[in-house]
Amino acid sequence: MLVTGGASGIGEAIAAVFLRQGARVAVLDRDREALKGSPAGRDGARGLLLAADVTDPAAVEDAFSRIDKAWGGLDLLCNNAGISIRRSFLDTTLDDWNQTLAVNLTGAFLVAQHAARLMSRTGGVIVHTASVSGMVGMPHYAAYNVTKAGLIELTKTMALELAPHIRVNAVCPGYVLTPMQRAEYTEAMLSECASDIPLRRLGAPEEIAALVSYLASPEAAFVTGQSFVIDGGESAGGLASAT
Ligand SMILES: NC(=O)c1ccc[n+]([C@@H]2O[C@H](COP(=O)([O-])OP(=O)(O)OC[C@H]3O[C@@H](n4cnc5c(N)ncnc54)[C@H](O)[C@@H]3O)[C@@H](O)[C@H]2O)c1
Repeated sequence: MLVTGGASGIGEAIAAVFLRQGARVAVLDRDREALKGSPAGRDGARGLLLAADVTDPAAVEDAFSRIDKAWGGLDLLCNNAGISIRRSFLDTTLDDWNQTLAVNLTGAFLVAQHAARLMSRTGGVIVHTASVSGMVGMPHYAAYNVTKAGLIELTKTMALELAPHIRVNAVCPGYVLTPMQRAEYTEAMLSECASDIPLRRLGAPEEIAALVSYLASPEAAFVTGQSFVIDGGESAGGLASAT
């Protein structure tokens, strides 16, 4: 299996769950140092480290050549690398917009297309990491929300075109405590978010990885084209009306 953005947060937890299941795990991430310290980096036998930026087409192509050479194919892609820039709509610069789309949407497309080509030989599973913010409006994240809405649509179109050999689904987390959140939210903001969530806490990366693990498993053999919210109930009643 391959997980992008697997050197931190949700991607790291996804890599760890599949390593525990005995899978061979390739991790593609632009952060070389974090890659070395990640679970796949510590498992020399089953880990394959691919230092690459998903916005660089040549680097992505090279990463897939390495996977094909090492394993002769690919059965699972967790298309998870992403960035977020917290900025009001009026303050969002063209650079913020382009950067976010380049990583979260164009990068995800590029990786998914390479993976699907490899999987067309044997079949496989693709799981995108979208977000609940691709389904509802969320202030200060216009570019990010658009990319996640795009991934939800990409999931449906890919599922239709790639069936029956390749299943394609998305997970849509709400707030999950990872370095991405810690970079943008103070402790006070995090507590406020937690108190607005019906289950009264943020999610853990391992909880998202467990959903990904189900979607990749034979138990989910009849599931494709869907986007699964995992947000502690936050979006169930509308984001601002939890209480
Ligand atoms: N944390 C949350 O609350 C939350 C909620 C919903 C969705 N998500 C999504 O989950 C995914 C993982 O987020 P996280 O919270 O674990 O973040 P994170 O910042 O902890 O991890 C993201 C990883 O992606 C890598 N990455 C970023 N840009 C890259 C690029 N251009 N090429 C290759 N690697 C790149 C980073 O180096 C990092 O290792 C993202 O797609 C994010 O949008 C996160």
